[in-house]
Amino acid sequence: MAPPIGAIGVGHDRLDGREKVTGAACYAADTPVERLAHGVFVAATIPRGRILRIDLALADAAPGVLRIFTHENMPRLRPAPSPPAGQSLMPLQSDRVAYEGQPIALVVAATLEQAQHAASLIAAEYERQPSSVDFRSRLDRAAEASSFFESDTHLGNVDAALAGAPLRLAQRYRTADRHHSPLEPSATLARWENGMLTLDDATQYVWGVRLVVAEALGIPAERVRVRSSYAGGGFGCKGYVWPHQVLAAAAARELDRPLKVVLTRAQTFTSHGYQTASEQFVEIGAQRDGRLLALRNTSVNPTSQFDAYLEYCAIGSRTMYAVPAIETKHRVVHVDRGTPTPMRAPHDGVAMVGLEIAMDELAYAAGVDPLELRLRNYAERDPSTGKPFSSKELRACYRLAAERFGWGRRDPRPGSMRARRQRMGWGMASALMGTFRFPATARVTIEGDGRVLVEAGTQEIGTGVRTIIPQIAADVLGVPVERVRIALGDTTLPETGGTFGSSTTMSVGSAVADAAAKAAAKLTELGSSGPGDYAATLAAAGLTHLSADGAWQPEENGDWSMHTFGAVFAEVRVDEDLPVPRVSRVVGAYSAGRIINPKTARSQIQGGMVWGIGQALLEESPMDPVLGRYLSKNLAGYLVPASADVPELEVLFAEAFDPHASPLGAKGIGELGAVGVGPAIANAVFHATGIRLRDLPIRTEMLLG
Ligand code: MOS
Repeated sequence: MAPPIGAIGVGHDRLDGREKVTGAACYAADTPVERLAHGVFVAATIPRGRILRIDLALADAAPGVLRIFTHENMPRLRPAPSPPAGQSLMPLQSDRVAYEGQPIALVVAATLEQAQHAASLIAAEYERQPSSVDFRSRLDRAAEASSFFESDTHLGNVDAALAGAPLRLAQRYRTADRHHSPLEPSATLARWENGMLTLDDATQYVWGVRLVVAEALGIPAERVRVRSSYAGGGFGCKGYVWPHQVLAAAAARELDRPLKVVLTRAQTFTSHGYQTASEQFVEIGAQRDGRLLALRNTSVNPTSQFDAYLEYCAIGSRTMYAVPAIETKHRVVHVDRGTPTPMRAPHDGVAMVGLEIAMDELAYAAGVDPLELRLRNYAERDPSTGKPFSSKELRACYRLAAERFGWGRRDPRPGSMRARRQRMGWGMASALMGTFRFPATARVTIEGDGRVLVEAGTQEIGTGVRTIIPQIAADVLGVPVERVRIALGDTTLPETGGTFGSSTTMSVGSAVADAAAKAAAKLTELGSSGPGDYAATLAAAGLTHLSADGAWQPEENGDWSMHTFGAVFAEVRVDEDLPVPRVSRVVGAYSAGRIINPKTARSQIQGGMVWGIGQALLEESPMDPVLGRYLSKNLAGYLVPASADVPELEVLFAEAFDPHASPLGAKGIGELGAVGVGPAIANAVFHATGIRLRDLPIRTEMLLG
């Protein structure tokens, strides 16, 4: 018998594709609301100091202005837990300025243009205090911090192992400050009715928004409803909750009028976090044949003065290779900037830059092929914990991707390969990503006509949730996926976690599978013999519909080390005269459990690979050290890969059912693709040019002799 259409493993087209391309999909800022007022906030122009005076006279007199909020008249807000608050500093609460871009006023007017105009008329006087935004010059002030992982780990005697190692390497690697730049900037629309607040919000976590806004405003969470039907990308910047959501909710209450706040593109650089730059100090000791004896990785990242956000840039070193002695350490430097936040492939995506360039350096030092070096150091168990991996098909990934790429034809000598007037370089790297899972609930309803409604409060931020979740329900119930629809993005629906940490397929998918199985069991009890008679079974029982609730609670930690893996091979071309590095080919093979939909999965990985190209060659947000502000708060100065920067991206999967990660056998793929590509490209640039670069992104000037 043929498997049912839409069953798990089928590369089904996106069910919401037509809605998106025709503009029918309604994003937060598009929500039609009567009497809508528009809010625009004014941002501080200094990184540290006090507001002495804000001159509102001109703005107050401008047409259409309804109210201007500053720290002098904004109601006091209560602190909210951070996370899910993106930062602990609540907006418009005092005259203190702690970062450039901090809101100092919110102008509300009848139209957007009126609010923008009035905001442009506001001038503030400050008492400026000495500030520093440069963490690299203050590494001596590195401080301890910790969040959900340990900051430091120790295995074996690293000092002794390094001292006795025939091959030693000690280098510093750097990554740059980067910004999430989703097509849709963060936006929120707040309205109050009978003491009940509804927020239509561009968010990755409706329950996080509800919690933070309710806490800040001092109202019960039950009086806040948050919806997010579609979001135009998130990548982490919509994962936590930022000042604009709290401001919109508070101001709408004061005005007793619906209010919309949409961040400008410039404000997205200061108002929803960023990925921190990093300094990664890597020390390796190895046998002459490249077998690792010791690995020490110390990482430092900047954070704000008021929060200790830690980017775990040494975390990959804990797990990636079989090393008997490993030390990892993480520190932060407090500077006068906003609080950083996770960005696509947080931690591991940054961490693998230092480790994987260092491994390439070791390969050359040992005279061993870079792929062979990874195989010689392959970890059969997690070296730090001794635990077995819940699933790991990385050997197959190395083989599949290397074969497809043609790695066997590589001449290892730097500068030896050419394509016409260009030097050609081939580089590779391993990828590793942590597995994050959250409790989830869901409801599945079989309707009178045999159609199926899946309800789960999760968010759709572009990943394909509106397709793969119906596939999972269809698979369990044995119905075609076209008969299944999903309601999501609403705190009135069954609760799930946030759309972050590549967790949705495992978490929400497992809850939906549970609800669907329970619905099927109820139908069987009513005498159904299969999907063909669901409608008839309900009719015979006198039911208009039948619902079942499902849930999934991931086990804590468990006996397994849980990660996804990949092997990435990149080709670059570097012109002889003007050495602009261009990526000409990327092949990646991935071990991420069972793949629910190969089409959306491939799309997720390709998207991640594009992030890797940005990490390697384009993305950085430099700051002016004197003004304490980003130099280019726009996409003309902050470069992300455009279509011409992106070559053919080949994605292969080494599938394996992982029963420990989730009952579906699936793991997360939203972020894995963004890992390993950056260092693979940097290694390819070395192979092309013989110039070893340890500071991403690689700029042309670094390659000029
Ligand atoms: Mo992702 S940075 O966990 O949204």
